[in-house]
Amino acid sequence: MNPLPSEEEGCYPMKKAIKAITSLLALLRIVSLPAAPLAGTALAAAYASDVTVNRSDSLSRLFTDKPEYCLYCGEVHTGSGGRFKQFFHDAAYFFCGIVGRYPGEGRMYFTADTLDVGADEPFYFIHIGDTHVSYIDERDCGDARLVETAGKRADYCPKDLRMLDDVALKARELDAFIVNTGDLIDFVSRKNLDIAREFNTKNDVFTSAGNHEYHVYIWNDGDNYERRDRVRDTVKAAYTNDIEFSVRIEHGVKFIAMDNAFHNIDARQLERFKEELAKDDLPIILALHVPVYAPDIFAFQMEKLDYDHPAWLMGVPEELMREYRYSETDYAEQKANESTKEFCDLIRTSPEIKAIVTGHDHAHFVSQVTPTLRQYMVDCTEGQIFEVR
Ligand SMILES: [Fe+2]
Repeated sequence: MNPLPSEEEGCYPMKKAIKAITSLLALLRIVSLPAAPLAGTALAAAYASDVTVNRSDSLSRLFTDKPEYCLYCGEVHTGSGGRFKQFFHDAAYFFCGIVGRYPGEGRMYFTADTLDVGADEPFYFIHIGDTHVSYIDERDCGDARLVETAGKRADYCPKDLRMLDDVALKARELDAFIVNTGDLIDFVSRKNLDIAREFNTKNDVFTSAGNHEYHVYIWNDGDNYERRDRVRDTVKAAYTNDIEFSVRIEHGVKFIAMDNAFHNIDARQLERFKEELAKDDLPIILALHVPVYAPDIFAFQMEKLDYDHPAWLMGVPEELMREYRYSETDYAEQKANESTKEFCDLIRTSPEIKAIVTGHDHAHFVSQVTPTLRQYMVDCTEGQIFEVR
């Protein structure tokens, strides 16, 4: 079953157009609203229902009963009262366009794919990543640098926790579990960890750590191992599986979540991974935060970043890092250690590994790591629904 329309049938052209217009308007922003920006996400629910998204003339909407997804509030208004409500919401949405800010960015949209790996019976999981929840409360206010960090991130991170609700709801609808490839939180704060704990305990979630799970202050923090080790146990306690290394078997398919958040794994993780490979012949789906290097995803990231910034991958060949003039810091962070090199080789040569799901780059991209192994990178407001067969 594919619960979604194809991209051509869906709303991507509209989404792109709206984003282009709002980016332009953002340049002319007159005032700033405390709401988070929107554009893409409101389209999400439309994917998962028969409701259309159509920026048709608001006045004509007053005279039709055709249900349309409200880009302003993320709901569908029906009936005559609903038509009037929609009219005012369209006006509000138009105003948001003028000021360049929208409520609701951070709501999830869903895409769908199938993985034929030889499961005992078909099942679903929803892959998410990089939701970057970004909250503090009075308990964190004693740390001025943390307060400053949260303020600086306010524009970047979605404040709308309905995105997590969207995922939870979709998971319940499909009787799916959730695979989260990291960066659920943007930085370590008590409030963020509370939100993570609640999401992880109320839902069936299987997580691999992202770099932001361990980022205390974000800016200029880089891959700070010392800080990571200081907060690691506290962070881990907010997740229901070991985000450093975990195994979960679903209908004869083995999911392995590994923390490669700082572009590397360590010797212990490698040993555990090899043990899992040797233990049985179950098909494996790998959940990592940082994507594994492949030429196509390297090209995608470099082009996206205008060749102005390094790609964010695990196991980038050193000659490429030199050719593209990675800075000293980027080079040091991404240089693969021996365990990581061996791990990358194993990924490419182990037929048990059927798919990799990753995040980190906040973009949807399907990479061909080998002719038979695909790696699915998820956008930060995307829920990738996989039907595993
Ligand atoms: Fe990340």
